[in-house]
Amino acid sequence: QYDLKTTVLGKEIIVYNQVDSTNKQAKKLAIDGEKHGTVILAEEQLEGKGRRGRLWKSPPNKGIWLSIILRPDLHPSKASMLTLIAGLAVVHTINRYTKNQAFIKWPNDIIINEKKVSGTLTEMSSELDVINYVVVGIGVNVNTTDFDDEIKEIATSLANEEGKSFERALLVKGILESFEKFYDQFMVDKDLSHLINEYEDNCINVDKTVRVILDGQEKIGKAIGITKMGELRFVQASGEEMILNSGEVSVRGL
Ligand code: BTN
Repeated sequence: QYDLKTTVLGKEIIVYNQVDSTNKQAKKLAIDGEKHGTVILAEEQLEGKGRRGRLWKSPPNKGIWLSIILRPDLHPSKASMLTLIAGLAVVHTINRYTKNQAFIKWPNDIIINEKKVSGTLTEMSSELDVINYVVVGIGVNVNTTDFDDEIKEIATSLANEEGKSFERALLVKGILESFEKFYDQFMVDKDLSHLINEYEDNCINVDKTVRVILDGQEKIGKAIGITKMGELRFVQASGEEMILNSGEVSVRGL
């Protein structure tokens, strides 16, 4: 159905009509030994999970709700970089089909016209410095047009911004093919060194003034790029550079 031009990613695709969360199912399957590269897709999620314990609204037949099972030979501390790989894959794919340009908001939100269209939730299981599995969960609001009032201000869909609907299968194909390409590049050095330029070119924060909340403290400065470990390079008003980890800070525009 997808006519995927990948070597391992999505060689097996498991599709659910309705599921609690594709990440949750992917984790169960991974525990039962499901192989590297398997993709779990759902038409609807009843308990889609977002980052920081938030709920991810996943109405039927409107979006892309998928999870990728990976078993990379990688130190567990590097698993979070796969989130940035997912961001790159999504932004590239979306930009092939939209007039409005999509950007990555570090680390992984995809933004069009200042609103979020997509996010990634990466979950991992490891033991003694060895990754057992990683689940990279990607959500894209594609054809949703009826957002609740509370999230309307911050969330959108491709259909809302472009004024037309999109074929989800084509986007899934693009995301998986592009994910595999970036993943393979990432695994060469097991860091983002070959992808920094690519990422920075698509990152909305780079060269902008941002406000970061670090340990409850607000700091204002300029984001100047990312490191090969995927951290944000942030220069404070004093000129001092800080390296920010995505787990520790939340970044806002001004
Ligand atoms: C975020 O908060 O930005 C991350 C959202 C991730 C949502 C996706 S949808 C498919 C996968 N399954 C889940 O339960 N969550 C992720």
